[in-house]
Amino acid sequence: MSIVKINVLAVPAEQREVLEQRFASRAGAVEGSDGFEWFELLRPLEGTDQYLVYTRWRSEEDFQNWMNGSMKAAHQGTAGGEGGERPKPAASGSTLWSFEVVQQASPK
Ligand code: HEM
Repeated sequence: MSIVKINVLAVPAEQREVLEQRFASRAGAVEGSDGFEWFELLRPLEGTDQYLVYTRWRSEEDFQNWMNGSMKAAHQGTAGGEGGERPKPAASGSTLWSFEVVQQASPK
């Protein structure tokens, strides 16, 4: 079964729009990564102020390969990207959560 990696982003209220705009113009490289299965940017409505970047992968190894490869290019200036072309990250903090999928369902 797949694994789920969720990056939890603390985003100050005045930076929300900036964050969403950055994702709107994201690299789009993750779609081409081997073992990539799903991505969603989740905007908080109730119960938390944190944005979730939900990703699902065929295996831990596929996720690690992405982290060591195109993830870096897709995060220029936000999460250790080397270019730093963008002035300042929109998020003030981040935490990575890891899960394995034990059950799943989709509509019949
Ligand atoms: C310090 C940690 C991180 C921060 C602040 C951050 C923030 C961002 C931002 C603002 C973007 C939009 C593109 C850009 O402006 O660079 C982005 C893209 C993305 N982030 Fe992160 N991120 C971090 C780490 C991670 C991690 C650990 C994951 C793994 C779940 C992740 C998953 C993604 C994905 C899938 C994209 C889209 C890439 C693409 O389109 O190819 N991020 N991130």
